Amino acid sequence: MKKIPVTKPCFTEKELLLVKEAMDSGWVAQGPKVAEFEKKIALHEKVAEGVATTSCTTALHLAMKAQGMKEGMDVIAPAFTFVATENAIVETGAVPVMVDIKRETFNIDPEQIEMTIQTKYCRKSGKLVNKESGNILWGIVPVHEFGLCCEIEEINRIAEKYELQVIEDAACALGAKIGETHQGGFGNTSCISFHPRKSITTGEGGMILTDDPELAKRMRELRTHGSTVSADARDKGKGFLLPEFHEAGYNYRMTDIQGAIGLAQAEKLDVIISEKRRGASLYDRLISDNLPEFITPREPAGYFHTYQSYVCMLDLATLKLQGTAEGGIFRNELLQRLEDKGIATRQGTHAVHMLDYYKNRFDYEPEDFPVAYACDHLSITLPLYAGITEEDQKYVVDMIRKTIDEMGEK
Ligand SMILES: Cc1ncc(COP(=O)(O)O)c(C=O)c1O
Repeated sequence: MKKIPVTKPCFTEKELLLVKEAMDSGWVAQGPKVAEFEKKIALHEKVAEGVATTSCTTALHLAMKAQGMKEGMDVIAPAFTFVATENAIVETGAVPVMVDIKRETFNIDPEQIEMTIQTKYCRKSGKLVNKESGNILWGIVPVHEFGLCCEIEEINRIAEKYELQVIEDAACALGAKIGETHQGGFGNTSCISFHPRKSITTGEGGMILTDDPELAKRMRELRTHGSTVSADARDKGKGFLLPEFHEAGYNYRMTDIQGAIGLAQAEKLDVIISEKRRGASLYDRLISDNLPEFITPREPAGYFHTYQSYVCMLDLATLKLQGTAEGGIFRNELLQRLEDKGIATRQGTHAVHMLDYYKNRFDYEPEDFPVAYACDHLSITLPLYAGITEEDQKYVVDMIRKTIDEMGEK
């Protein structure tokens, strides 16, 4: 049976060569390879500083701590995202306040952000205070979901109007742009992921991008237990005594083995993105010709989608299904039948308000964020990676067509 994975990392001999170089040098913890990788990614995204971390989750946590997010604060975030967005906020002690998304883009809806601010908060001594909990609104953590930038310029306008901070969760969006501006270039800190399902991978890994050198310095200190001297600077002869620690930090350091992989991967980034964009436009055509039950992902005018994931929605009307719950049952059966045929697909991501921890803590109902709930139940990610063949993409679409027809005959 033909097996098609949902994604596949793109490795060549270069990764092995650079990893060997790191190992031969004897320096495998965070060191020169990570520093070079940080510079390369920052340059690609046209941002001054990159701070590598162990994952995007730790990148988000580090950026949030460094920018003052803490207990007693609220933070607006989308209800449809990978749970790490909200988990990082919870880790700082702050409270995530969820907002619904737009179905067409899967990204946070700026109008809902403004409505949430206006209904939940009042101004007291210049601060926006939650009318129920008394928490102060810190800011917004928008997500560039599946490789498409959110409406970040509009979100920045709202942030400026209400004097809020913004950290962009760009886990999926390395290389994504609006016009010629890359994610991370809109004046906020942004955090990217190098998990294998992302454009390029270091196994696990993340990076914070910022144009603020002071903030980057602080994040580098916090990344190394709050140390005033980095491990490799100490190795380069900054003394034998342990450095000073002004605050309690973390060990969120990427290794040079990962940095080496990242350097080899960074060389392929633009090729990987253009391969995925080619694959996405082929799916667009194949689906429009063969699968009226599918709504394809959208790339709004002026936006550059990197298609970290190619995520479709089921069209309930065409399928003659009654609602989100029934659609969800159909979607899950379709995913299972495709899995049985050797084709790996996934739901897009989750409606975080319906995950046990958040549902129980905040007493959420599905309809609190109906679009997120619908996208949770009706989204389907198709296999897409650099190197997927036209023949395999046609096979995927043919098998979906066949499977939906089979399900209709039941
Ligand atoms: C939107 C979003 N944020 C954060 C993360 C967490 O990234 P990592 O796995 O690198 O911690 C992910 C990972 O899938 C994600 O999709």
